[in-house]
Amino acid sequence: MNIKHSILLLVLCASFTLSAQKRIPKVEDLLQKMTLEEKIGQLNLLTPGGGVATGEVVSKNVETKIKAGQVGGLFGVAGPDKVRVAQELAVKESRLGIPLLIGSDVIHGYKTTYPIPLGLSASWDLALMEQAAQMAAREATADGINWNFSPMVDVARDPRWGRIAEGAGEDPYLGSRIAEAMVKGYQGNDLTASHTKLACVKHFALYGAAEAGRDYHSVDMSKVKMFNQYLPPYKAAVDAGVASVMSSFNDVDGVPATGNKWLLTDLLRDRWGFGGFVVSDYTSLNEMIPHGLGDLQAVSALSLKAGLDMDMVGEGFLTTLKKSLEEGKVTEEEITNACRRVLEAKYISGLFDDPYRYLDSKRPSKDILTNENRALARKLAAHSFVLLKNENNILPIQKNKKIALIGPLADSRNNMLGTWAPTGDLNLAVTILEGFKNVASNATISYAKGANISDDEEFAKHVNVFGPRIEIDERSPEVMLEEAIALAKNSDVVVAVVGEATEMTGEAASRTDISIPESQKILIRNLVATGKPVALVLMSGRPLTIPDEFELPVAILQVWHPGVEAGNAIADVVFGDYNPSGKLTATWPRNVGQIPIYYSVKYTGRPAPESGEFQKFRSNYLDAPNSPLLPFGYGLSYTTFEYSDLKLSKETIGQGESISATVTVTNTGNYDGEEVVQLYLRDVVRSITPPKRELKGFQKVSLKKGEHKEVTITLSADDLKFYNGQLNFVAEPGEFQVFVGTNSDAEMTKSFTLK
Ligand code: NOJ
Repeated sequence: MNIKHSILLLVLCASFTLSAQKRIPKVEDLLQKMTLEEKIGQLNLLTPGGGVATGEVVSKNVETKIKAGQVGGLFGVAGPDKVRVAQELAVKESRLGIPLLIGSDVIHGYKTTYPIPLGLSASWDLALMEQAAQMAAREATADGINWNFSPMVDVARDPRWGRIAEGAGEDPYLGSRIAEAMVKGYQGNDLTASHTKLACVKHFALYGAAEAGRDYHSVDMSKVKMFNQYLPPYKAAVDAGVASVMSSFNDVDGVPATGNKWLLTDLLRDRWGFGGFVVSDYTSLNEMIPHGLGDLQAVSALSLKAGLDMDMVGEGFLTTLKKSLEEGKVTEEEITNACRRVLEAKYISGLFDDPYRYLDSKRPSKDILTNENRALARKLAAHSFVLLKNENNILPIQKNKKIALIGPLADSRNNMLGTWAPTGDLNLAVTILEGFKNVASNATISYAKGANISDDEEFAKHVNVFGPRIEIDERSPEVMLEEAIALAKNSDVVVAVVGEATEMTGEAASRTDISIPESQKILIRNLVATGKPVALVLMSGRPLTIPDEFELPVAILQVWHPGVEAGNAIADVVFGDYNPSGKLTATWPRNVGQIPIYYSVKYTGRPAPESGEFQKFRSNYLDAPNSPLLPFGYGLSYTTFEYSDLKLSKETIGQGESISATVTVTNTGNYDGEEVVQLYLRDVVRSITPPKRELKGFQKVSLKKGEHKEVTITLSADDLKFYNGQLNFVAEPGEFQVFVGTNSDAEMTKSFTLK
């Protein structure tokens, strides 16, 4: 490609989403040459199997279809040589030689798996997250992939929903910043570069609000809630230039997202100016039949007209659009428009220029699972851990101790990567036992399993669909427990690695009881009863209900599912080589009855007393407080931080002006550490009921022991805005209250007025 051509491509990429109307001559020429069948073929996305199928249908006769020009893209194919075979079929054997998009679910790392997204979000470190996405893009493109089904930005406020693991938690502001960082990381500044790939923001929209936390369930919410609480992260991804959008399984206002014109056209394209293409989720087009919207021909026509461009696996477009055109149910222009968007994506990723640009067979060994990548995965994991409790400063543990390492997840290689890591290799994961030995070679470390993850065989069967995650031991629970207790008694300190198996969260992995399974609860109680100091290393893909464990005199380090470097990263933190700095990005309830639960609730007309005491005829429960066990933004450190001197730059501001808050943060403890300084805003009076407070800024700062720093967070004019009853984005005059502190309960406050 010559320089002029590269510059043209760069300009087109940069303006891609902004100008849906801009025509690309190469694409227009091609469209002129295409038959109707070939245009429809570009709307067809297939998977030949070999990857993880997330539905019942797996595509058939893929080779024949590619040659016939009936396929626009594939997923579940990887490796330069394999992709080359597919790409050559398209380029050399189909009539017009249009290259294929090669998609993949690279959710948290390609081969170098890093923490699940919910864990990564807990680092609150945007630069690090962008770096993570860059690494994933470099590895995946080295393996021939040019399109990524990530980031997943669904706001989730119901931890029963298993896919809370795949997103950034409950908050639209934090979720938006993370969405931008991930899109930037995947796509870079130049989509034609060999190490960048098209991103796909998903699942548009509101998928995280499935009723009762049950996957694929209905969603129903008001427009003001949608606009203010659920849509911002998708919009942020669009504003960051994301090249594609995946529609969700659920309905929105009664119409499944995949066939929802208001969503895919009026909002996404017309209001937000999205110029890329929309792909369905796995057979979500066909699933409109059981949703109750008609037969395959009807739902396919509906979806095309709604603004869906590509049909994942379902072949509804392929098999019915021609008939619909003949019957006048769709227009050729609608088919051409969808095809144009798919071709434009291929163009901006440089595939027309060189269909084999991602197919350098020397790259995998150079770019994948390098030492550098593994070091980054280890860092990402350590930064994602959240210290929930540290009774008597049990953590960090000195490296010369006699340690009883106990628990069903302490030496469980199959459970380290986390859900939705289909491209990772379980066998490469470092277990906690191995990590401890690597990092603390002078310690005496003995291991006992102590309990099964769960003793329930039926439950284990549901969890183990992708292979053994819950392995029920041949020994009886009593025998395992006895062994563990004996080991604990004979040690200086106990580290118990407990929690969820990886597939206890993720897609189609909702739970109605989100506590630690009973088998492990018994183990924990018995270990504490030995009187030895006990540190719980808690693994999960969601917030858990742990009121009983939280009462025990233990340390609790929440580590999510940390990825390929799990054991090393956990050892880094347990032994104090890294001081934990993560903060929760989803509220931890006391019990499932409090769900949905999130910090940015409204007061209601009958607010519960601030004291938390029960009062009749107030909005509270008879049997539990309203407050969660652990609030959004919560996380401890081995050191302590003090906040003082909150100042605002102005007392009054005008429309369109910004304002800054400055606070002094001092490291008052005995370790160097990092703190996430958080700013929340309350719009005191406005035309629609305001949340009690909303995150509007944060900064992660590093402070040496004894050091203090002034931290300034600036609120832009937009940070004061919200979508009003007419869905206009406005800031209304009046008082605003700023809260700054260490989590969403921050009490230090100052007010200002917007004129
Ligand atoms: C279904 C999932 O909902 C989606 O996130 C994923 O990208 C597709 N399957 C493809 O694997």
